[in-house]
Amino acid sequence: MIRVNENYLKLKSSYLFSEISKRVSNFQKDHPEIEIIRMGIGDVTAPLSSGIIKAFHNGVDDMASEKTFRGYGPEQGYDFLRNAISENDYKSRGADISPDEIFISDGAKCDTGNIQELFSADIKVAVPDPVYPVYVDTNVMAGRTGIMNGSRYENLIYMDCTIENEFIPALPKEQVDLIYLCFPNNPTGAVITKEKLKEWVDFAHKNRALILYDAAYEAFIRDESIPKSIYEIDGAKEVAIEFRSFSKTAGFTGTRCAFTVVPKNCAAYDSAGKSHSLNDLWNRRHTTKFNGVSYPVQRAAEAVYSPEGKKQVNEIIDYYLENARIIKEKISGMGYRCTGGDNSPYIWIYTKTKSWDFFDMLLNKLGIVCTPGEGFGMCGEGFIRLSAFNSRENVIKGMDRFSKL
Ligand code: MLT
Repeated sequence: MIRVNENYLKLKSSYLFSEISKRVSNFQKDHPEIEIIRMGIGDVTAPLSSGIIKAFHNGVDDMASEKTFRGYGPEQGYDFLRNAISENDYKSRGADISPDEIFISDGAKCDTGNIQELFSADIKVAVPDPVYPVYVDTNVMAGRTGIMNGSRYENLIYMDCTIENEFIPALPKEQVDLIYLCFPNNPTGAVITKEKLKEWVDFAHKNRALILYDAAYEAFIRDESIPKSIYEIDGAKEVAIEFRSFSKTAGFTGTRCAFTVVPKNCAAYDSAGKSHSLNDLWNRRHTTKFNGVSYPVQRAAEAVYSPEGKKQVNEIIDYYLENARIIKEKISGMGYRCTGGDNSPYIWIYTKTKSWDFFDMLLNKLGIVCTPGEGFGMCGEGFIRLSAFNSRENVIKGMDRFSKL
């Protein structure tokens, strides 16, 4: 008899963004005349910039000629892209990450979801609350949690992120083995200082724990004192894996390209206490389960690091950051307390109302889609998230509609 993985039965019936899109399409079916403004999911709206598109086209042309055609590429990614990342994202910021510590993939969602396969089923996992649901759900699927009790899974350590701690979690008091951190944070938009991040790195060393650091939104950091990578912190290479993405940085949500950094001296331990290289284990997993990102897409991603690419990508990020500024100014002017939006595309708004009720009210009254904070965890109740990934026109229209509240 074929049996299911019963861990799946512990999950909420649908993924947060699927639930939102179901509610939005039902609403649109009933009200086809309403032009909905989508400020929910963080999906980019600006097209790929011309420098990237040119490289993408050239990559496609290479595939049309016998001389330049490529079949299977290296599972870990082409050297031209791994070298560009190592130089531009790391070495230029004083972080010594070499190309063979970088694994190209089709998305940070997949990588943050898949990475937990490397770890034992009985480790203690700590996640912030609110949290990007992928970190939690994939650990539920793997059987690392108990059932949902109230709005939290048993056997998972939740680190509260609240107005009081400015959405930066405190170090856990108990022993934890795997810690998920995300900065600039999804969903709160909070950023972390080097000093605070150093406390986490030291904590991981002391507890022989590992930090999974999601830096998918680093491109939005404009304050030079804020770290873009955890490897800007001394000692991080031994205790942290970092996830990056071209999705929000360069508009690749539909094109798909990301990467994960697993330093060579980053280790995890077996039951006898012997250490094992996570770079080797991730390489083993990657080569077994993944066949690489397509060649033209990697050529397009490489172009993000050309002088033209850097300039164009920066302009697009500036555009989204200006959207964020407009949203934050409007919403805080209406008396709502908000965070994020400065070094982040997300604005986290305290509505003091049940967040799904606020979601329904915004959709029904104003035709605006937000993300209800409760979808990210118990501490998100009473909040909503607005995304700045939109056209200026829609942002202005959306903010005008807010005036009607
Ligand atoms: C979000 O809106 O939180 C993100 O777009 C989700 C994702 O990147 O998968």
